[in-house]
Amino acid sequence: MKERLKRDYAPVKDLKADDHIRIVQDIFATVTGKYDFLNHLLSFRRDVAWRRFAARKMHFPRTRRYLDVATGTADLALEVASRYPDVEVTGVDFVLEMLEKAVIKTARRKECRDRVSFVQGDALALPFADRSFDVVGIAFGIRNIPDRPGALREFSRVLIEGGQVAILEMQLPQQKVLQFLCSFYLRRILPRMARCFTRNPAAYLYLADSIIQFPAPERFAGMMRDVGFSNVRHYPLTLGITRLYVGTKPDGALPPEKQPGHFPEKNPDRDSS
Ligand SMILES: C[S@@+](CC[C@H](N)C(=O)[O-])C[C@H]1O[C@@H](n2cnc3c(N)ncnc32)[C@H](O)[C@@H]1O
Repeated sequence: MKERLKRDYAPVKDLKADDHIRIVQDIFATVTGKYDFLNHLLSFRRDVAWRRFAARKMHFPRTRRYLDVATGTADLALEVASRYPDVEVTGVDFVLEMLEKAVIKTARRKECRDRVSFVQGDALALPFADRSFDVVGIAFGIRNIPDRPGALREFSRVLIEGGQVAILEMQLPQQKVLQFLCSFYLRRILPRMARCFTRNPAAYLYLADSIIQFPAPERFAGMMRDVGFSNVRHYPLTLGITRLYVGTKPDGALPPEKQPGHFPEKNPDRDSS
């Protein structure tokens, strides 16, 4: 058995941006081997349904290109590629170890491997030209980026006018009792379970802390609007422990009622999982 890594990360709220980034890189370079297994185990496999829900909400009207930011081991990238057979998918992540796993997984997927590629890069300086993609998505990644407005601006830059951003993120539910139960699971149970399987158990303390520190839904949706996204909606999944945030990059040439993504929705805040 591999030796345990003696890591001890400071609480997220006390981290400076540079230290936060260094810790994120360290964590994802050391949990890679067990990442998928633990994701499924610790979320009771709900993560699969959450990514499927995000992919279902996407539209590819023009470029037919999708960018998966913080792609990790490519689960959302592959979900999108298999759901939309004529869409070309690019995954970007700054941790090489995660991308290596993504490449291996993709090679096994005959139905879509020719349309999926990966690039090592930073969400804050995406290596793509302006207006390159119909949709930019990020699953469980925005929480790990200290400069969230900077990342949202970068997503907007590479989107076409009328393009969509889709952000899947875990956070505490709004309901008080659920919030208490969820904090208890994250702080007490999840790190103990993770300790049995990973070389770097401190990574799961960070994971728990980063979920607890993530802004409340309306605050994060407000941040998306401040950056310029319109028609921002969010969908609670599995009692609100995960949310999908969707927004549209406005088309400057169109009046508000003609903007892409502007359509009345019956009950956007209903639990959708
Ligand atoms: C929790 S994993 C999510 C992976 C995948 N999207 C999924 O659904 O399982 C977070 C990923 O975000 C990546 N990441 C965090 N900050 C990043 C940044 N600034 N630029 C690129 N990748 C980043 C990490 O390397 C890691 O692979």
